[in-house]
Amino acid sequence: MKHTVFCIFFLIFSIGLKAEDGHRLWLRASATSPVIVQCARHSATLDIAVNELKKGWQGRPGETVILKLVKDKQLKNDGFRLSATEIQANSETGILYGVYELLRRQQTGEPVRNELINPSYNLRLLNHWDNLNGTIERGYAGYSIFWHGEDSLAVSDRDKKLWAEYARANASVGINGSVLNNVNASPKMLTSEILQRAKAIADVLRPYGIKTFLAVNFASPQVIGGLETADPLDPEVKKWWYDKAKEIYSLIPDFGGFLVKANSEGQPGPQNFGRTHADGANMMADVLLPYGGIVMWRAFVYDPSDEDRAKQAYNEFMPFDGQFRENVIIQVKNGPIDFQPREPFSPLFGAMKHTAVMPELQITQEYLGQSTHLVFLSTMWEEFLQSDTWQEGEGSTVARCTDGSIFDQKYSAIAGVANIGLDANWCGHHFAQANWYAFGRLAWDNSLSSAQIADEWLKLTFKPEKQFSPIDWNLIFLLPVKQMMLESHEATVNYMMPLGLHHIFAANHHYGPGPWWAPKDWRKDWTPPYYHQAGDDGIGFDRTANGSNAVSQYHEPLTTQLGNLQTCPEAYLLWFHHLPWDYNMKSGRTLWDELCYHYDEGVQQVRQFQKIWDKAERFVDAERFSAVQKKLREQSLNAGEWKDACLLYFQQFSKMPVPYELERPVNNLETLMEKDRRMLHRGPTN
Ligand code: GCU
Repeated sequence: MKHTVFCIFFLIFSIGLKAEDGHRLWLRASATSPVIVQCARHSATLDIAVNELKKGWQGRPGETVILKLVKDKQLKNDGFRLSATEIQANSETGILYGVYELLRRQQTGEPVRNELINPSYNLRLLNHWDNLNGTIERGYAGYSIFWHGEDSLAVSDRDKKLWAEYARANASVGINGSVLNNVNASPKMLTSEILQRAKAIADVLRPYGIKTFLAVNFASPQVIGGLETADPLDPEVKKWWYDKAKEIYSLIPDFGGFLVKANSEGQPGPQNFGRTHADGANMMADVLLPYGGIVMWRAFVYDPSDEDRAKQAYNEFMPFDGQFRENVIIQVKNGPIDFQPREPFSPLFGAMKHTAVMPELQITQEYLGQSTHLVFLSTMWEEFLQSDTWQEGEGSTVARCTDGSIFDQKYSAIAGVANIGLDANWCGHHFAQANWYAFGRLAWDNSLSSAQIADEWLKLTFKPEKQFSPIDWNLIFLLPVKQMMLESHEATVNYMMPLGLHHIFAANHHYGPGPWWAPKDWRKDWTPPYYHQAGDDGIGFDRTANGSNAVSQYHEPLTTQLGNLQTCPEAYLLWFHHLPWDYNMKSGRTLWDELCYHYDEGVQQVRQFQKIWDKAERFVDAERFSAVQKKLREQSLNAGEWKDACLLYFQQFSKMPVPYELERPVNNLETLMEKDRRMLHRGPTN
């Protein structure tokens, strides 16, 4: 009898949790009581602000809230003053951000005090690697929300609805700019027909405070303009860009500017014409200056002939420090190589003292399990932003070197490569939404902790109406799931590339393991053996003074610290050192045993995540629960493959046994290599 009653209760409660496809993201809450909103003016943005308050109000019933535009010198950019009953800002977008902050606090139970809140960066941008044909480079959540093909440029109501939802989600976390297309930019992006669609997108994004930017192909004047050259110092080329800028601003008066990938991975750039990065970037900056536009010029450059890819961006860009226009920002990936599971920060941060530098993070999980693995990237970004560069003394963190706290710069910015596509839940994996959310929150406040961000996101994304006792929800759902998120990045590093290993993926898909992968005719710096350097004598890339001397690009005391085995953090050991297999680690184990322990630990961690998730089942609607459960199963399997592939491959050199207390490999190396060969034949996954 007792059992039946329990079952009936359980049934009622679980029926109460309506299936959710994740489309509403972290914006699921609706008003629990009425509110009166006073706002002296009307505009598209202010109307959204008023509406949001009414739709989402969970404060005192019948409260009056005042939205007030002011002229307050303490408010920077779109900052705002917040209290429980009033929001003040210098701009309409500031008011909107204040509204989202107030609603978030109501929904997460965070107190509302009288506070002044300014953003860390002026520009908080998503970079979409979307191609005009609708595919997305390194996109794992379906096709583009912006582009459906060059012969499909008409704008539908469905497009507009989706773009508005996208803009709303961005505004709710403070993102204020979108680059609409791939950095490997098609020159056609700048043709008049395509610009018409960009205008339509910009019109939808604008009321939410989001500016539109475009990635441009440096050779556009030649390819679509019919000129003989794209030499940035050629008068006709300059004129072509002037005219193009004029056309763009006539369509999009608040256009933000250009993002440029030049002389990198086959993309054209000023060097093709015997000119420098500064020549190219400055020409474009001059063109955009009259309109207030900026140029984000990427420092992602490397040459196959160089002995160490990690050194090249620094070598190529440092000589130009101080030569760029004020409206040029150098966009630098967080690490010196390429969005690896863990990298030390790029030495360019803080080193370029007379040029604005902005971090580029990758939200899409190209190298972190794509949309299959649950990896909360916030901890990795926090580690990066809080890294001390020592460039202007102790405490010169990457965050402070880029947000204008240390260097006097007109513009400060941060970009994240988006993980958004047409999938119903936008990001492929329900937990990948947390990375979009975290990027926005950190771009707004680069001192936030990942624990706080995870806490907010979980409450907003998963909190059920009222069915459960708050204690149960906290103990069985919130705390363990938050802990899982906070450990998830380290777990992935453990089962993919612990102790500073990097870029040991198979083929070009950047998903599974491939430490063996080295086709003869392939660029060496695109093959794993270039990075792990495993041999009978040991493993790791020697970047000390005896090797490539990449350590010298860091400021003291880091050069000494990283170059010295006693002081180099073990998390970066094999990034900076080549060491024998029996090298003695801090734990007392040999390097080989330590490597085995890390790989095994990673696998165990994911197994634990599965238990946490399964136990939380009754607190999650069936649709999202089972989607995440399935992905965790696959992640567990993949983690095991990573462990087995790497250990069995490296064991050929170490010739040492996997410590007997650890679980034995269950896959054969040959089988894993064969699987990888089959994937290669299918071609890259992007
Ligand atoms: C990585 C990625 C490419 C991308 C490039 C970039 O190499 O694999 O697809 O184009 O980064 O950031 O430009």
